[in-house]
Amino acid sequence: MATTGQNIDTLFLEERRYPPSAEFAAQANAQPSIYEEDFEAFWAREGTERVSWFEPFTKLYEWELPYAKWYLGGKLNVSYNCVDRHVEAGLGTRVAYHWEGEPEGDRREITYADLQKEVVAFANALKELGVKKGTAVAIYMGMIPELPIAMLACTRLGAPHTVVFGGFSADSLSGRVNDMGCEVVITQDEAWRRGTTVALKKIADEAMKDSPGIKKCLVVRRTGNEVPMTEGRDHWYHDVRGSDDPASCPPEPMDAEDLLFLMYTSGTTAKPKGIAHTTGGYLVGVSSTHRYIFDIKPEQDVFWCAADVGWITGHSYIVYGPLCNGATSVLYEGTPDYPGKDRWWSIIERYGVTILYTAPTAIRAHMKWGPEYAQQHDLSSLRLLGSVGEPINPEAWIWYREHIGGDRTPIVDTWWQTETGMILITPLPGVTTTKPGSATKPFPGVDAGVFDERGNEVGPGGGGYLVLKRPWPAMLRGIFGDDARYRETYWSKYDNVYLAGDGARIDQDGDFWLLGRVDDVMNISGHRISTIEVESALVDHPDVAEAAVCSRKDATTGEAIVAYVTLKGSAEPSTAKLAELRDHVAKKIGAIAKPANIVFTPELPKTRSGKIMRRLLRDVAENRPLGDTTTLADAAVVSEIQSRAESESSDDS
Ligand code: WT7
Repeated sequence: MATTGQNIDTLFLEERRYPPSAEFAAQANAQPSIYEEDFEAFWAREGTERVSWFEPFTKLYEWELPYAKWYLGGKLNVSYNCVDRHVEAGLGTRVAYHWEGEPEGDRREITYADLQKEVVAFANALKELGVKKGTAVAIYMGMIPELPIAMLACTRLGAPHTVVFGGFSADSLSGRVNDMGCEVVITQDEAWRRGTTVALKKIADEAMKDSPGIKKCLVVRRTGNEVPMTEGRDHWYHDVRGSDDPASCPPEPMDAEDLLFLMYTSGTTAKPKGIAHTTGGYLVGVSSTHRYIFDIKPEQDVFWCAADVGWITGHSYIVYGPLCNGATSVLYEGTPDYPGKDRWWSIIERYGVTILYTAPTAIRAHMKWGPEYAQQHDLSSLRLLGSVGEPINPEAWIWYREHIGGDRTPIVDTWWQTETGMILITPLPGVTTTKPGSATKPFPGVDAGVFDERGNEVGPGGGGYLVLKRPWPAMLRGIFGDDARYRETYWSKYDNVYLAGDGARIDQDGDFWLLGRVDDVMNISGHRISTIEVESALVDHPDVAEAAVCSRKDATTGEAIVAYVTLKGSAEPSTAKLAELRDHVAKKIGAIAKPANIVFTPELPKTRSGKIMRRLLRDVAENRPLGDTTTLADAAVVSEIQSRAESESSDDS
């Protein structure tokens, strides 16, 4: 029953349950007893089992609110852990990456022995350009093998990096370069994207005009097209590539708390925050979560995290987690629908991918295109699926399981953030009974809760603010250069707990249901309703592929719900369909959540990482000029929606 008040109401009732199969449970890396281990024992054991230390840590952690340190006194090197030690252990012939370029037939297989040579040669080139321990390096590249190689080369030298996603503009790049104080930019001539090229080096040139601190630019050849080179500053990688003999460039011993990288994450309006991650705790956190949540068996699995290395997901689960665990991964350069909508499924078939990790936005795109593309390929190698980035609508979860997972594979819906560095709330396959739409339980050694406005823990069935009550190894060590903003953003609402900024509820079994960003919660006649519940009710209709809802001001109800809906390939928008969808929401979750308006649109406005931008939809719904649109992936989508919203409201009146 919904109650009025400050907390978030619960309307959506999802009753499907998926217990683990006996076969999966028997072979799983995680066994139920994993939840019984105490916090300190768990992280101390993981700290020694996952990572090799040059010098062991002497203290597990130190918690001086709001800053934590982990594995104090420990010395280690990330590239040694991710590469050299596997070769030393005789695993040099194991494939680290099956790389698939966007142009068809463009492939490279990189073993751990190859990776060691490439990382050493790259690190020697960086040394030649003056990079040493502590030099900040910006990396602006597409999804080519030299991207993880460049990151690992930085870690070998102890040079902190910031990877800037290749879809960002010159301004975004120079802003990050200047904030971190980078001296070197690593880029490539151009990147492939949907059969055309993106001029990365040219954009980097623009950025460097506004970044006087840059001394050197290292350029990897990818497309081979002509690009401008500035004498003295710019160097082709193939000209300065160094010796690939590991003895020529031993890995630098780093302190557990030395800065490993910054990952910038945009606030809604203000300048991006440089989220700081350090060496020891981050590596333990990502390798531990990767091992248990993805049930990694490095000798047999082929893991594919289909994100971009330019986001935290790619850092943690394409590069550092999988390599630290000695796993085999797929690295794919292109988009899911180029040249055909079956591209992903052909990749899974070719490499025998066993574990796929992707985002709800991608799953909904495949839903929109239809299951026939997946049906053209043999996906029987898959044994586990993962989701990350947004709440997953139950229908998208079911579609993913049926059409991609052959109604056989467990799904892990993993909640985390750029700030958390590692997955924090997630099922463990083989242990957890999953529920479509729920990220289920905190990972072992993670203490999460849901608070009301006043900072009291809400009971089962209640909704409120997601908080973390204890530090975890991969947690951010602050916002680079901005202590005040760090305290204000994450630590000012409540004393002593980390505020994630997401709404959540806990059900009777103690399972967490993520409700989206708290800024997006709507207030309809005094009921606090989360966007995800209404969206999931819409996606539950067989004709709907994707939906985004927001609220606009309303004279009687305070706020009224506006829904933007993308139909599946075969369905047609009509007035009848509109009424049908409104009724469907009323039936599914209650009349209170019935959208006042529905706008049909072929696409929704999203950030470059695929998150729906509800803030812009609110601007459209209230006929306001649009707020900051710089993080929007495709600006044309919003003007399209604006014109559809206008014609819809005139039909209405
Ligand atoms: C925000 C963090 C974490 C890597 C990718 C995104 C949302 C993420 C889930 C999930 C519901 C999720 C949250 C979170 N989010 N995963 N499984 N269920 N919401 O990193 O860009 O820092 O975004 O993504 O709102 O706060 P990010």
